Amino acid sequence: MNRRGRPVNLVVVSNRVARGKPNEPMTGGLAAALLPVVEHSGAIWVGSSGRVRDGHQKEPFAEIEALGTGAIATLDLPAAHYGGYYEGFANSALWPALHSRSDLIRVSQDDYLSYREVNAFMARALLRFRKPKTAFWVQDYHFLALGAELRDLGVDDPIGFFLHTPWPVTAVMQGVPNHRELLTAMLAYDLIGFQTQEDCENFLGYVGGELGLTIEDGIVSSQHGRTRCQVFPIGIDAEKFAVYAAKSASHPDVSRLRRSLNGERLAIGVDRLDYSKGLVNRISAFDRLWTSYPQLARGISLLQIANPSRGAIEAYGNLQNDVARLVTDVNGRHGEVDWTPIRYLNKGFSQTVLAGLYRTAQIGVVTPLHDGMNLVAKEYVAAQNPADPGVLVLSKFAGAANELDTALLVNPHDIDGMARTIAVAAAMPLTERKMRWDAMMKKLRGHTIQQWSADFVTELEKCRTEKAAVAPL
Ligand code: F6P
Repeated sequence: MNRRGRPVNLVVVSNRVARGKPNEPMTGGLAAALLPVVEHSGAIWVGSSGRVRDGHQKEPFAEIEALGTGAIATLDLPAAHYGGYYEGFANSALWPALHSRSDLIRVSQDDYLSYREVNAFMARALLRFRKPKTAFWVQDYHFLALGAELRDLGVDDPIGFFLHTPWPVTAVMQGVPNHRELLTAMLAYDLIGFQTQEDCENFLGYVGGELGLTIEDGIVSSQHGRTRCQVFPIGIDAEKFAVYAAKSASHPDVSRLRRSLNGERLAIGVDRLDYSKGLVNRISAFDRLWTSYPQLARGISLLQIANPSRGAIEAYGNLQNDVARLVTDVNGRHGEVDWTPIRYLNKGFSQTVLAGLYRTAQIGVVTPLHDGMNLVAKEYVAAQNPADPGVLVLSKFAGAANELDTALLVNPHDIDGMARTIAVAAAMPLTERKMRWDAMMKKLRGHTIQQWSADFVTELEKCRTEKAAVAPL
């Protein structure tokens, strides 16, 4: 342990790693969130290179580059198993189930085997980063079984896992093929972290009900020993985001956007093109807004950034078509020769430009049907001008709603309700906007991404020490 009580060698693992700098486009909340953790903690961050390699790799190939006080190591994943792992089991079985969309589960037994192969492959690759006093911190649903694979290889270091998505009720999880085997494997972790209390309770509900295991004070006893389950809501570096927002006011994209508004108010949505994000409902709510409040037509427009994602999966291809059709329809009906109600962009932006775009928009619309946390909600708040902050319209089904409870909370299934709330946001007086924003910003400042990571790692160390005291390792 170093002076701050952290393991000397922290190895963070996720499928996707942040390849970009803050001024380059980023994909995914997880990768962007972990970047400052690795930069300042001296950790090694191991993930997929995005490339695949043929043949059975005995010694997985890794490219390593420095990142602040830490490093990033990227691996080419096995070509024969990549599709079954990523598009198959991870994103066509686990992702829909974790977001309570059992109707979208499409998966074969081969996909499951590929998922397990890639987990085993990653475990073998991690051995090379193991030194005395190592702790492994595995991120997200791509690697539910990685802890068990590491244990099979004889690793007795602390291994923690954090889930960035929601965890559903047991009946939904039962729809995932091989769920018992997978959930049993998860219990090889010493610590499992969740975004919300509800996710943690759902997981424990499965473990107690379906697996019949004993749970005491959040600790599960299984064939693997003790596993602590706990809530660690992920934070952001709010100060950094505020600095980006102030600085990028002069960025060409941001100033062009500002100039194009002509006094019109702007609402902004920024999402991966994913069915969990509620894009169809959101656009329908704007359609309803302009129909029910015609005085707001031309007075408020929507900038929707929707970065295409997982396009090889049928549900995502269908969604892309549905959203594009709906945007065209709404623009066709409400638009004027000199007014486009929805500006719809299918591309990613850097964090610095996004911060400037957030600050330009008087309303942030973050209305997922279900989301683990949703960091866009936090980033929108952090990017606001304290003297004239915008209003956050936030789905009550995003994990962020637990903390950002002075946002205008909406039910994304209630299109009329969302339209009414957007109208309220557009008319909100400055004093109320400031009061709501101050309260949210205070929470963001009090719980940063650095704090989140320090809390998790400290707890992981504690779990391992407690485990050793119960049964000497
Ligand atoms: O759990 C959420 C998350 O890991 C996000 O960080 C990211 O948006 C997504 O899932 C992963 O997306 P991708 O399939 O593009 O890596």
